[in-house]
Amino acid sequence: MRIVQLSDTHLSHIGGVTSENFTKLVEYVNEVLKPDLVINTGDLVILSPDSDADRETARLAHEGFSAPVRILPGNHDVGMPGEHAWMGLVTTSERVSNYKKTFGTDRFLELPNSTWAIIGLNSEVFSSDLPEESEQWEWLEEVAAQVQGRCVAFFLHRPFWSPMPGFTEHALAIEEADRDRLLKIFSNSRVKLVGSGHLHRFMQGQEGETLTVSAPSTAFIVLGGTLGINQLGLVEYRIDGEEIRAYFRTIPSLVEGEPHELAAFSETMAEIQAKAS
Ligand SMILES: [Fe+2]
Ligand SMILES: [Fe+2]
Repeated sequence: MRIVQLSDTHLSHIGGVTSENFTKLVEYVNEVLKPDLVINTGDLVILSPDSDADRETARLAHEGFSAPVRILPGNHDVGMPGEHAWMGLVTTSERVSNYKKTFGTDRFLELPNSTWAIIGLNSEVFSSDLPEESEQWEWLEEVAAQVQGRCVAFFLHRPFWSPMPGFTEHALAIEEADRDRLLKIFSNSRVKLVGSGHLHRFMQGQEGETLTVSAPSTAFIVLGGTLGINQLGLVEYRIDGEEIRAYFRTIPSLVEGEPHELAAFSETMAEIQAKAS
């Protein structure tokens, strides 16, 4: 079985290089990678969780894939919990509800064979104290009972483990308490993979039996530094029996726009600032 994970597509109804990159990658995925499943781990829209037009643009763009597609929210799609939310855009019930109106659901369970369970989560409700958080925990308890003994691959926007534990400017990963609770709930399964986005770079690590993979963005690079592969692209997973491997994939024609030079970025940023002031 093969899965393609793309992330941080940051699409806008205005168009621009993020949309052009996405279109090129859809073609590459359909014609070259030919996966059984495509998963987007969020930050679907350029910046604002309150733009219905951007969400609709993102939804339509995903109709181009030949394989089945599962879409998960990032902090730019529903907000982020806590005091470090970017531009104060916190997760709210209204934002989650608007997301679900467009995409149907913010989580999923796939059982592709008798060995594996593929579980998609909304990372942006953890530690939010919203009813949507309790609801997701309840669902996770039910799913864990259903997938006992299976190999589990989790997909979500923010990683379980931060690659920079001392960095507090904004939350790079979910809270440790949420991660520990999740792993405890799934202690009767074998958590083989956590595939996340948010960091806009490709990285692989290992936590016990769990492979941790950070997917690159298809839209733009956000931070400098030499951690991982700091390029645009996506991840191809190959599952063989109980083994899962991750591969960075890209094509040479993607355009690495500087975010602040993108018209859609600047326009949305101005809208967010106007609302905040
Ligand atoms: Fe992002
Ligand atoms: Fe993000």
